[in-house]
Amino acid sequence: MRPLGASSKGTVLDLGDPANYPSGSATYVIEGRLFVANAGGHLFALSQKCPHLGCRVPFCDSSGRFECPCHGSKFDLGGEWIQGPAPRGMDRYDL
Ligand code: FES
Repeated sequence: MRPLGASSKGTVLDLGDPANYPSGSATYVIEGRLFVANAGGHLFALSQKCPHLGCRVPFCDSSGRFECPCHGSKFDLGGEWIQGPAPRGMDRYDL
């Protein structure tokens, strides 16, 4: 596993059966420090590191979004930027 666009080789993680990630969910995978999110049937592996200044971004179950506690950036379930000072969406990994 490596961030999209990275030139170095990454680590491979076995994330199990895709059925383990139901639609509308974001599951934290501690081994990769990432979330596996299912947005409308599309699976994404998202870095928990905020693209603003690197804080850990948790998933908010009540809003259904990722919300950075440091400066308020918000991202949708697919990691796309919604608001705040982050310059882009959350980094994605190849699945
Ligand atoms: Fe996440 Fe600043 S580190 S908004």
